[in-house]
Amino acid sequence: VLDKKIVVLPGDGIGPEVCQEAVKVLQAVAEKFNHTFTFRYELMGACAIDATGTPLPAETLEACEWADAVLLGAIGDPKYDKDPSAKVRPEQGLLGLRKALGLYANLRPVVAYEQLLEYSPLKPERIAGTDILIYRELTGGTYFGEKGRDENSAYDTCTYTREEVERIAHQAFKAAASRHGILTLVDKANVLETSRLWREVVQEVSQLYKDVQVDYLFVDNAAMQLILNPRQFDVILTENMFGDILSDEASVIGGSIGLLPSASIGDGVGVFEPIHGSFPQGKGKGIANPIAAILSAAMLLDYLELPTEAACVREGVQKAINSNILTQELNKESPYTTEQIGNFIAYTVLEGDEVEPH
Ligand code: IPM
Ligand code: MN
Repeated sequence: VLDKKIVVLPGDGIGPEVCQEAVKVLQAVAEKFNHTFTFRYELMGACAIDATGTPLPAETLEACEWADAVLLGAIGDPKYDKDPSAKVRPEQGLLGLRKALGLYANLRPVVAYEQLLEYSPLKPERIAGTDILIYRELTGGTYFGEKGRDENSAYDTCTYTREEVERIAHQAFKAAASRHGILTLVDKANVLETSRLWREVVQEVSQLYKDVQVDYLFVDNAAMQLILNPRQFDVILTENMFGDILSDEASVIGGSIGLLPSASIGDGVGVFEPIHGSFPQGKGKGIANPIAAILSAAMLLDYLELPTEAACVREGVQKAINSNILTQELNKESPYTTEQIGNFIAYTVLEGDEVEPH
């Protein structure tokens, strides 16, 4: 019996809807395995700005620091996107949270489900069997470098330290060693000084992981290779912004960005969130795909060292996919709502057999 404290940050747009289904699935896990999960809800993003004037209230950060794990929906609101002069923005909440919690490694698994190959705009024979784990650096680079703006110019600087590259490189090499033994560093070392530092450090770290084959790819070529021949990749390691862009691109392989979860890992508590945004046009319509949030909950369970529980959740997702219980962005004819898919997966977790983690 385990007692775990989970902070939920539903955020904006479809965030609350997908979080509700992920929490439902976690509650099914708790019931099936006799654990106690205590959920505490806090504000972050545009909803926090509306309620408190700040995107990351102190109480939210304190709750996250108290928690054993954090589940996050999505943040963002078009009213800020339309106003480039806005001083306070929902994204500052998310970036502030990542920085404050030291979440330097963002893991984004991308798989092509056999049953969904037809829903990708890419050719099925090209994407079948894809299984990639992206390690995106999350607290450095242009996102966090010195920024400036005057009337007619603006700048964002990209800085990385040796230590920032080393710590995520070790994690990515360990992951590659436990998977198919290939690590691809994606950079722009033909142009950028920071990329040359990444290459140097990754070459050094690779000496400790002799069983892992290291490939180096420039980011422009990587963007092309990712959809030309995604099966060549196992673990992709890359800096913050390249990882942001490539992971959205990679989501096309699975058929929908609504399927992709992520785990942000660092010095303190881990944060688990779908990679999709707040999809404000979809809010309240029951059309949001809850699977990315539910698979994020599975990654949360792995993080809490509950691999059997995590495997049960993934099995539930797989059964939904096998039974064609999908949202409409995948299958236009599908009658299923966000809530019905969550119910199906939670029920499958509760009633299904225990499955072995693999
Ligand atoms: C993501 C998002 C965020 C990012 C935004 C909302 C700040 O796109 O998690 O991928 O750029 O990191
Ligand atoms: Mn993104």
